[in-house]
Amino acid sequence: MKSTGHTFIASNENLLLHANRQIKSRVRWLLFLVFLQPAWLTVCAQSVVEFPSSMENDTIIINKNIYGHFAEHLGHCIYSGFYVGDTNQSIPNIDGVRKDVIAALKTLKIPVLRWPGGCFADTYHWKDGVGPKNKRPAIVNKWWGGVLEDNSFGTDNFLNMCELLGADPYVSGNVGSGTVQELADWVQYTNFEGRSPMSDLRTANGRTKPWNVKYWGIGNEAWGCGGNMRAEYYADIFRKYTTFMGNGLFKIASGANSEDYNWTETMMKNVPWTMIQGIGLHHYSVIDWNKKSSATGFSLQEYFITMQRAWKMEELVTRHAAIMDKYDPQKKVALVVDEWGGWYDVETGTNPGFLFQQNTMRDAMIAGVTLNIFNNHADRVRMANLAQTINVLQAVILTKGSEMILTPTYHVMEMYNIHQDATLIPLKVKSGEYTMGNEKLPAVSASASMKDKRIHISLVNIDATKSQDLELDLGKVLFSQVKGRILTSGKIQDCNTFENPAKIRPAVFSGAKISGKTIHLTMPPASVIVLELN
Ligand code: AHR
Repeated sequence: MKSTGHTFIASNENLLLHANRQIKSRVRWLLFLVFLQPAWLTVCAQSVVEFPSSMENDTIIINKNIYGHFAEHLGHCIYSGFYVGDTNQSIPNIDGVRKDVIAALKTLKIPVLRWPGGCFADTYHWKDGVGPKNKRPAIVNKWWGGVLEDNSFGTDNFLNMCELLGADPYVSGNVGSGTVQELADWVQYTNFEGRSPMSDLRTANGRTKPWNVKYWGIGNEAWGCGGNMRAEYYADIFRKYTTFMGNGLFKIASGANSEDYNWTETMMKNVPWTMIQGIGLHHYSVIDWNKKSSATGFSLQEYFITMQRAWKMEELVTRHAAIMDKYDPQKKVALVVDEWGGWYDVETGTNPGFLFQQNTMRDAMIAGVTLNIFNNHADRVRMANLAQTINVLQAVILTKGSEMILTPTYHVMEMYNIHQDATLIPLKVKSGEYTMGNEKLPAVSASASMKDKRIHISLVNIDATKSQDLELDLGKVLFSQVKGRILTSGKIQDCNTFENPAKIRPAVFSGAKISGKTIHLTMPPASVIVLELN
């Protein structure tokens, strides 16, 4: 026993000595790794994206209207952006609408276009913009630069243009300075099939067949430029307008400004779901309204703040949707994010009222993250409109005379258009962190959908300096091939210019490697990748 005991004690001592040595060596290793960590992390971080274990119950459709756009009578969005005048001989056009713009927006598969504002909508009297052009009165565009608006682009021009684009029109009515009768007449002008004063006017203006406009906004930013109303007051105004506009339309209430949850609550509480089809939400990724900073000459810190503002959309749609769920658990009313995008200082030397800004890889990141958020909330978010299509804010197209360029944001929207009307596949994302000082953001955002037996996954790495090693765990998905496209550039400040219009454009991505049920890839810093599996 003793000897056994001694042996036992001796071997215990040996074990202790051994364990001590092991601990010391592990601590040395750990210190070594900690010492190495910063360099190691700059190479790449790890993220995992998991598909659901079963996709049988996935029935949520990503409404194509999430990929909608917005065209206001603001700066050079309509005039010289979309419309160059129907007598223009130097820029190829159809009834004054640029052919290059039509082609680019058709490639984008633009589903819906909001018009004529924005703040402009609540100053716009539609009858000023119909009939013979030489009889149309000119007005002052009081919100946007105080310039003369000659009304040469009006209702017929807009609705005919939507037909050319294959897009649904979304008309914003004037509640702030208009009347119920005026908006009811507008509906009759665009939609009434039989004979009526307004359909007769339409016929006299050269169009017999109604356009059947489905989407109508009842004012814009009623809490601000639309009339500085309180939510309670606006809820009643909304009820009145909707009564006289008639049935069968998709009526969208002016919605909240970012985190004004009380607005959504008051509207949902006071307007029965039978009277309202959509409620708006506006959120811009702006650093500071008093110091928005340059669209191209921004620091890493400013970039990070813009990404925080973009990611804020996740919280906004989650919380506004939760309020809507209380009053409308069957999700009949859509959340319509009818203005979103990045907002910076105007380009030097341009009219401050025209909101013209360049568009960089930072904007591509905003677009990628935001559209993934909308896709993932497609049960409630059923329309969104990027502000704005051409030459204003986060534009997809910039024009200069007869030239036209496509921005990085355009390319993201084009890469993502495969999600339009596809079935959402809910993903679990365990993202690496993008850090700035003590602040953290998920570096990777993702969404996926299925259509015609093909699965698409859109991925964004917003980290400006680090790659992300990504593992896609496909679970039960059957696939044998993967192909992809990538949008990235050397610097987050990079943009397309009239001198170098194709600096940033999608390229083939062949870095996705299949191993069993898993796909591995490395996402470069500030990149968007769309994969297709079949
Ligand atoms: O998109 C520019 C302006 O921003 C819109 O006119 C207004 O609705 C918002 O404040």
